[in-house]
Amino acid sequence: MDRLGGLTGAAMGKPMTAADRVADILREAIAKGSLTAGTPLRQDELATRFGFSRMPIRDALRLLEAEGIVSIHPTRGAFVAKMDAVEIAEIYAVRGLLEAEALRLSLPRLGEETLKEAGAVLDQIDAESDVGRWGTLNRTFHLALYGACGNARLLALIDAQHKAGDRYVRILLSSLDYRARSQTEHRKLLAACRKRDTERALTWLARHLQDGSRTLVKSIR
Ligand code: NI
Repeated sequence: MDRLGGLTGAAMGKPMTAADRVADILREAIAKGSLTAGTPLRQDELATRFGFSRMPIRDALRLLEAEGIVSIHPTRGAFVAKMDAVEIAEIYAVRGLLEAEALRLSLPRLGEETLKEAGAVLDQIDAESDVGRWGTLNRTFHLALYGACGNARLLALIDAQHKAGDRYVRILLSSLDYRARSQTEHRKLLAACRKRDTERALTWLARHLQDGSRTLVKSIR
């Protein structure tokens, strides 16, 4: 395995539990908009629907609560968490500004080795089945391209925006359509970086972030 493989290898072989599978199904339903914010998620109903006992259902709901996708009320039970379209638009707009500047600074100084590693991260995204890992690998890919910008504060600000948007990105990446589109955009962006075509790279980055923002806002409305 390559160098980045060491970072991600541990999670790749993790066996999928029944709770993981239920969590995946629920995340995808939220991504597709078939479960909207505020929809109650009753354990017994879900257990019947999925043919599982209540334990993995409860564990799945806890998992999604930790991701900020589900809210659990002490007496009223679990429901799909409120998603904030304004917050999504703000995070993506700020990402657009910060990441364009980081890419512009980084690209002329970016080594071939780093570009190769970024390409390997995209291959890992294609091969990865765990939704939590997609988000992390997406962040790894983006930050790899900005790594040579020479401004640690700028990189820290970008990282903070990625973390703030994490629960939304999880929902976004649960949609297979979006994932395929996102990977196409990633590869176009990387190809422009390989050619050191800053203008083209910035265009693809902007398109990628606008697409993510628009798709998300649409899916939660
Ligand atoms: Ni991306």
